[in-house]
Amino acid sequence: MTKPSAAAGSICWESPANIAMIKYWGKYPGQLPMNPSLSFVLKKSVVRICLHYEKSENGQLEQFLLNGMPNPAFMQRISGYLLDMHAWFPFLSAYRLRIDSESTFPHSAGIASSAAAFSALALCLCSLSQVVTGKLPEIDSRQDDSEQGLTDHDKLIQTASFFSRLGSGSACRSLESGFVLWGRTPLVGEGSDQYGFRLPSERVHPQFQSIQDAILIVDDTTKKVSSSAGHALMQKHPYRESRIAHVSDNLGLMLEALRSGDEKLFMDVAVNEALTLHSLMMSSSPGYMLMRPQTIEILERIEAFRKESGLSVGYTMDAGPNVHLLYFAHDAAAVKSFISGHLLAHCKGGRWISDSMGHGPVSLT
Ligand code: DP6
Repeated sequence: MTKPSAAAGSICWESPANIAMIKYWGKYPGQLPMNPSLSFVLKKSVVRICLHYEKSENGQLEQFLLNGMPNPAFMQRISGYLLDMHAWFPFLSAYRLRIDSESTFPHSAGIASSAAAFSALALCLCSLSQVVTGKLPEIDSRQDDSEQGLTDHDKLIQTASFFSRLGSGSACRSLESGFVLWGRTPLVGEGSDQYGFRLPSERVHPQFQSIQDAILIVDDTTKKVSSSAGHALMQKHPYRESRIAHVSDNLGLMLEALRSGDEKLFMDVAVNEALTLHSLMMSSSPGYMLMRPQTIEILERIEAFRKESGLSVGYTMDAGPNVHLLYFAHDAAAVKSFISGHLLAHCKGGRWISDSMGHGPVSLT
């Protein structure tokens, strides 16, 4: 790999997908969330991005490869994003860019690949800024005192979180390990609408480091309604205000579960958020349903297993038909045997991904 210099080089970052326990659903202009959300990053489900750059009169993105193949739809989205980024990274107009990206999970597996991709790309841009200008771009919305006490690494992460949010909202929660909050809330003073904030260790019982996520693939075809369209439908949603109040209650309960180590409360809130998200889709105008018959079969089987086994298991779902079965490492043997005996028959081609809480982005340069 060429050593990065201001003239030419390559900068590479790996960044994870994240899964929300408290869901971001609905947004305001500027990619600002209608409500606070909370998630953790995954370990195996990551995207690696190499940004190759070279000084040129005609600065633009020339090529975008996903797993070695051109991807016109994503290239268009990334090109638009990079053009927007010229406002903060003006030097970009003097560089020709190529992007090689690689995903460890199928694009259509129902894991938000855009969160992993935009967080990796934002890190590449921030690192490039450090190479070319010697510093990070100023993010004017940084709260006045929020920079105090930040290390250089913290500043890089916060800045990259800010820019990844502008690509895809949930991406701003992919920059750190542990539980990451996005959105202002009186419940956590440091929360911001502009970037993710990692809950400090005293707010999270060590038990939650061992959280596992079994991703059960029900359907891997393109969704009939995108998340962006779903967010837009929240603008005039009849339950919009009650959702904002409800999410605050759920966040309060989730924070209490995390602090005290209450696994059952954690699972109860995660399940309630997943079902609420899908009921908001069904009660939108027009309403729509992303769960498939096999999704419901799986959810009912998990509910029955929860009751019969008494184990701390639960589930969440993103805006799609696939189910994320949540459990703790201490129950892995029982849960894996339940998955193979009772759930795999309802997954497309028997497919599932065994993932767990990860450690956040890694520089590959
Ligand atoms: C249901 O972050 O994918 O996964 O900001 O339009 O890119 P855009 O949306 P996106 O929405 C994710 C919604 C969700 C819930 C969540 O991750 O919090």
